[in-house]
Amino acid sequence: MSSDATLVDTVNASQSRQVFWDEDVYALEIERIFSRAWLMLGHESLVPKPGDFITTYMAEDKVILSHQSDGTFRAFINSCSHRGNQICHADSGNAKAFVCNYHGWVFGQDGSLVDVPLESRCYHNSLDKQKLAAKSVRVETYKGFIFGCHDPEAPSLEDYLGEFRYYLDTIWEGAGGGMELLGPPMKSLLQCNWKVPAENFIGDGYHVGWTHAAALSQIGGELAGLAGNRADIPFDDLGLQFTTRHGHGFGVIDNAAAGLHIKREGWTKFLEDTRGEVRRKFGPERERLYLGHWNCSIFPNCSFLYGTNTFKIWHPRGPHEIEVWTYTIVPRDADPATKSMIQREAIRTFGTAGTLESDDGENMSSATYINRGVITRNGRMNSTMGVGYEGPHPVYPGIVGISFIGETSYRGFYRFWKEMIDAPDWASVKANDDTWDSVFPNRNFWNEKLNAAE
Ligand code: FES
Ligand SMILES: [Fe+2]
Repeated sequence: MSSDATLVDTVNASQSRQVFWDEDVYALEIERIFSRAWLMLGHESLVPKPGDFITTYMAEDKVILSHQSDGTFRAFINSCSHRGNQICHADSGNAKAFVCNYHGWVFGQDGSLVDVPLESRCYHNSLDKQKLAAKSVRVETYKGFIFGCHDPEAPSLEDYLGEFRYYLDTIWEGAGGGMELLGPPMKSLLQCNWKVPAENFIGDGYHVGWTHAAALSQIGGELAGLAGNRADIPFDDLGLQFTTRHGHGFGVIDNAAAGLHIKREGWTKFLEDTRGEVRRKFGPERERLYLGHWNCSIFPNCSFLYGTNTFKIWHPRGPHEIEVWTYTIVPRDADPATKSMIQREAIRTFGTAGTLESDDGENMSSATYINRGVITRNGRMNSTMGVGYEGPHPVYPGIVGISFIGETSYRGFYRFWKEMIDAPDWASVKANDDTWDSVFPNRNFWNEKLNAAE
């Protein structure tokens, strides 16, 4: 590991480059983050009927997520309790039970071991099947999104999302029936550390006008003016950036929900038709968010762009590779033609071969593999943009940064990353619940700014 032990410096807003490269750091992340945090498994829309299942990952562990006959959802490790074989090799389907390929042990929809070939003849009735269920995963849902967690001491999913629910509700509940995912996911491998895309999606409004300059110019629309990051961008009025407890965050560009869509009639009509309902339910502050374009990450490894409507899970495959799963997130109540148009636009921009996805992929790899060099990887990275121009807001919960081009949510992400890496257990994390935002010391920023504007 690095000779510089400070992997993340929350005061000076810098990170050791080892966080993108080091095997020991990765091992710690798996143990202390991925084995303890709530991880996105999917959405009810992917498993709508009893018996429906998908197979997915929690970090490098394979899991089966299954819709039970009582309407609940269960998840369990996709590995047989006999000799460890993978139980289910299908990506999705509908099954009453799962039969292991190797010797035929049968697991129920809930992961219990229900049948063993030749049990009485070969095990002489000594097998305790109850103790041989597939290892179960804690499962909870929020607004139809299904999460899994391995740690019984972790807070409830609602508490884990915490204040971030204020923001998620704006779109996950939004108008009418909220959102759903269109699958099956596109899958691709990217040669990068999982945090490079997670931090990019959580807060990197800065790269949009630069990395994607050519694409934005070509697409036109609301975001075209960002191309080239010219000095005439009205930074102070260019959206906002947010971070909340537990490292979640997003940036929003105002009035740009459909900004990357070329064919957008159905989507813009849906937003126009439903903004009144959102305003009535949530007030004008969240109507503003509803009409904006979001780049968002739910800590640790789920990201989405609301507006463009791509939805990603960055499954880590060691420190230098990820498997990217890409769904489309759409309003449940939109008509089929609109959903399909949104999906085509999302695939065109951020599908595996999407125009903007390709722009990003090169940077993700470069920011990871440059650290192969030992001198390089013992250096540090900087995330100071907008320090001091952020703080508690009179309306919006969490810490709010002045512009979507800033690094407020980077600092929130890495502040919580460090907390999880350092904390021996969830009780230690909970002890910081009241002081987590002290790394954002400008407590009066918004009051002063808003008073000055009056
Ligand atoms: S390893 Fe699954 S039945 Fe033997
Ligand atoms: Fe990008």
